[in-house]
Amino acid sequence: MARLRTIEDLGDLRGRRVLVRSDLNVPLEHSPDGARITDDGRIRASVPTITSLAEAGALVVIMAHLGRPKNGPEDKYSLAPVAERLGDLRAAPVRLAELGKPLPNMAAGDVVLLENIRFDPRETSKNDDERGELAGELAALTGTQGVFVSDGFGVVHRKQASVYDLARELPAYAGGLVLTEVEVLRKLTHDPERPYAVVLGGSKVSDKLQVIESLLPQVDSLLVGGGMCFTFLAAQGLGVGDSLLEEDQINSCRRLLESGKVVLPVDVVVADDFSAEANTRTVPVEKIPDGWKGLDIGPESVAAFAQVLASAKTVFWNGPMGVFELAPFAEGTRGVAQAIVDTTAGKGDGTVGFSVVGGGDSAAAVRALGLPEDGFSHISTGGGASLEYLEGKVLPGIAVLEERK
Ligand code: 3PG
Ligand code: MG
Repeated sequence: MARLRTIEDLGDLRGRRVLVRSDLNVPLEHSPDGARITDDGRIRASVPTITSLAEAGALVVIMAHLGRPKNGPEDKYSLAPVAERLGDLRAAPVRLAELGKPLPNMAAGDVVLLENIRFDPRETSKNDDERGELAGELAALTGTQGVFVSDGFGVVHRKQASVYDLARELPAYAGGLVLTEVEVLRKLTHDPERPYAVVLGGSKVSDKLQVIESLLPQVDSLLVGGGMCFTFLAAQGLGVGDSLLEEDQINSCRRLLESGKVVLPVDVVVADDFSAEANTRTVPVEKIPDGWKGLDIGPESVAAFAQVLASAKTVFWNGPMGVFELAPFAEGTRGVAQAIVDTTAGKGDGTVGFSVVGGGDSAAAVRALGLPEDGFSHISTGGGASLEYLEGKVLPGIAVLEERK
């Protein structure tokens, strides 16, 4: 891989306009009182790059998206709450600027956040010319001597105007967050310390099939929990009651099981309803009753997974083990996350492990369950992006930074 040009390679930034692509796509809860950010991990992770550019005297213009708006500007997709939180975290105002309008007056060190870049349909267009046109307009906002800093790791797997095309319009540099993320994932794909264990959860096998296929030859064990474990259990000939089942994936799961590296739960928490008030029982996987659905892995599974993790020297985790948002089904995720924290600290058999949490739901689970963020070696801000990196796919937003001008 070519060395990425970094912010350190930039010369004097005083008075120069810098367009920064960040991933500030955070979960929001809407109520009559307005929108509340339920997990600000991505905003916090984006602050250091923004602050260092501002401190270097640049005029910082941030581009980011929120959700997937399909019909132009809509209040519920506004970045206003994000601008406010960013300002709080920086203890300096972050103004929200309209898209497609001239920028407000700015002085050295000022930070402006452009409204949701996906309000402009050209951002996500499949048409290269349309995206290129938007990228040209964005580049023009910087006047002469403008630069682009790509720091939205969570979105580098998207070939979109503010991620990809803009890097061809302006001198482009990787921000500190993108650099760290890529470095960490490189460690996992190039000669990880062994044993290397991957923990995968989440609801669908079909979403993760590709990543499982590409990871299996690289890892020593693949621990599977979450909704997708039931299709694997069915592939072993077990009945799974009303649990999530992807019949069309059973054959693929059977093939993956032949690797001998897949470790499945031995017990599960089943419920008669998908709710926090449901009746629940913990049963061995051979005895999932008809009419009940598995919503978490059970304590014996946690113990079995923890045993594998205790001796692991490298761990990657993506996807919750159960419906952790509902208290009766949170213990599997908590237990496995704690086992990873213990391994990272060298508590298991004394071996210190290098642990990476891959984005999205698992990162939110860490914070929602009150686990220490610094208990892991790295918590990625990119779910999809980190999985695609591990699959060996080309990430357009990274590849474009490697192109030599
Ligand atoms: C994410 O949340 O996964 C990133 O911000 C990318 O968003 P997207 O999946 O809507 O492209
Ligand atoms: Mg996503």
